[in-house]
Amino acid sequence: MKESTKTSKSAFAKDVDKGLSSDPKYLSSKYFYDDEGSRLFQEIMKLPEYYLTRAEMEVFTEQGDQIYKAFGADGEDFDLIELGAGDGTKTAVLVDYFLKKNADFSFVPIDISSEAIDSITRFFNERFPRLQVEPEVGDYFATLETFRETSDRRKIILFLGSNIGNFSEEQAVSFFSHLREVVSPDDRILIGFDLHKNPRTILNAYDDSLGVTPKFNLNLLKRINRELGGNFNVDKFVHYAGYHPLERAARSFLISEVEQTVKVESLGKEFHFRQWEPIFMEISQKYDLPMIEKLANDSGFEVVENFFDSNRFYADSMWKPAG
Ligand code: AVJ
Repeated sequence: MKESTKTSKSAFAKDVDKGLSSDPKYLSSKYFYDDEGSRLFQEIMKLPEYYLTRAEMEVFTEQGDQIYKAFGADGEDFDLIELGAGDGTKTAVLVDYFLKKNADFSFVPIDISSEAIDSITRFFNERFPRLQVEPEVGDYFATLETFRETSDRRKIILFLGSNIGNFSEEQAVSFFSHLREVVSPDDRILIGFDLHKNPRTILNAYDDSLGVTPKFNLNLLKRINRELGGNFNVDKFVHYAGYHPLERAARSFLISEVEQTVKVESLGKEFHFRQWEPIFMEISQKYDLPMIEKLANDSGFEVVENFFDSNRFYADSMWKPAG
């Protein structure tokens, strides 16, 4: 446990060093989610402007039956695998449907954070005492690979919440191509995509009126202060979000209001910021249907069916290996 914290910390240190030494500067959004960051993300999900979570919730509440049918589980056992544990609220809605169908399955959350895994496991054990929960802490692909060798049941793999949005299109192809190598022909994956829509609606989701999103971004600078001995003055950075309708990409930045130098003790380094110099913090890639289709095909999958919310803001797309 100690060892793994140490390794992940040095990966954090390395990535921060690399990102702040680059031109343009960047930090990886995967480091947003320490305890404080996870708490802030919970707050984001409740914001009136942040429609994504509610949209996916609506899809599962209204179409759990159809999703189950599209999976085609006719009574055989399967494993329901979730990549990236999340807080489990939406997954619980699906699980509830599946249990009502008397489906015979285990729930396998996979995440690199043991805290996240512990908390979702506790939640599911409490909520569904009869459901078999088999948590796995580790890398998605390595875990799936071992899983394939130990279980011959069909798998339905969930990758929800528009988490795919944090990948560029290129990274997304490489992610799903890799996934293709560790799934079997009968397996299915269900992916949550946020869709292109009125750019203003998208922008507002990342530029909320209560200012929670700026706090969420600035928390990563505070995390560098806490864990790596940085001396970022977060009052000297402003948050800026934009949506690019041609690229279908929302991006957020922290912009240095002044010329300044920031020291990061554990890297033994100083980083210089010009006035108004941005740090690129996060991409939240949006999709339209042709893009989803293309992503599936480029990665060796076929779209089985898309499930939309009533606004068509969001799609959960079910894929099977092409063959
Ligand atoms: C958790 C990656 C889906 O990009 O919409 C929310 C994270 N960032 N507000 C997203 C996020 C700013 C979120 N994902």
